[in-house]
Amino acid sequence: MTARDDRPEGRPAPGRRPAPAAVLTGVGGWVPDQVVTNSDLCRRLDTSDEWIRSRTGIASRRMVTPGMATSDLAVEAGARALKSADVSQVDAVVLATTTPDRPCPATAPDVAARLGLTGVAAFDVSAVCSGFLYALATAQGLIAAGATRRALVIGADAFTTIVDQDDRGTAVIFADGAGAVVLTAGDPEQPGAIGPVVLGSDGSGRELIEVPGGGSLERSARREPDPSARYFRMQGREIFRQAVQRMSEVSREAVAANGWQLDDLDRVIAHQANSRILQAVGDELGLPAERQLSNIDHVGNTGAASIPLLLAESAENGSLAAGHRVLLTAFGGGLAWGATTLVWPELRGR
Ligand code: UT7
Repeated sequence: MTARDDRPEGRPAPGRRPAPAAVLTGVGGWVPDQVVTNSDLCRRLDTSDEWIRSRTGIASRRMVTPGMATSDLAVEAGARALKSADVSQVDAVVLATTTPDRPCPATAPDVAARLGLTGVAAFDVSAVCSGFLYALATAQGLIAAGATRRALVIGADAFTTIVDQDDRGTAVIFADGAGAVVLTAGDPEQPGAIGPVVLGSDGSGRELIEVPGGGSLERSARREPDPSARYFRMQGREIFRQAVQRMSEVSREAVAANGWQLDDLDRVIAHQANSRILQAVGDELGLPAERQLSNIDHVGNTGAASIPLLLAESAENGSLAAGHRVLLTAFGGGLAWGATTLVWPELRGR
């Protein structure tokens, strides 16, 4: 039995230090060189530039070249984030991905080793397009628990490797890239401190986005694997509807959890799923279009990479500036969703 606790909510016990906050101190992004335009897709699929632009907002996207894997994307983005934070050492590498280099082991230890971080904690997080926010929350928890002083959090996906390139419903949307941030233990009032992260899931919708084959379910049946089951399937219309509803709800919760109003937001960095989804979420939250940042037109939907890639690009081109109050929000397969807030910091290494 514990003694009655009269402390105001959130106050540490006398003599105990408050848990450190996870403060964003670096950001980096990377996409492979190979550009795939809508015209390129029109040459082999029954689609049109007009359909793709008007239904998704995408004009071109990047694709890995043969032999290039998720780890290659993650290493490039991770190196840029470390440089931006002006550090060469972290205690943990958390990698969000749906396209690990192989089913076993995790890809993060390899990424860590290639970044010269052998010996640190390194593991993958799997939450599809919400993966980066799940990884961010995990690293935030490690820092709050005192297990880690500094973490590299990466979102990286080579989505084109699991999308059937003959399926016009998905091949025009999904693409490859990586983004990363460095989180350092600090003060909750400091710019860059990650606010409360709100996460959720609904596994009853797991078939709305899935790669049905290749896992224990298929293997235990000991049937000949179905080659088409190795590819990504999506029920686009229902995902669209739920994405708007869930991202709007979770965004409201995350903003309120930090004691902010929606009107306080200067910038929204939402998972770049589809420009019409982004617009609908903005409308739902009553946010003017100029506060929503987007790069979907030239990178497509890059899964777990989407949010940190947009953070890196926006910091680079100045559309994110020190002092901006920022909302991050995502929705995707699982179903899983999440959101959080932060005040954008001054980054030293940029
Ligand atoms: O990353 C997080 C998870 N993913 C998402 O959030 C994506 C959510 N969904 C979407 O972005 C949209 O549903 C899509 C872009 C995938 C599809 O747009 P839509 O407006 O929902 O189209 P639809 O699936 O309802 O299809 C409309 C029509 C269909 O033809 P019929 O049946 O009306 O004759 C499709 O066959 O458009 C057809 N279609 C295409 N036509 C030309 C589907 N893909 C294409 C295409 N080119 N690439």
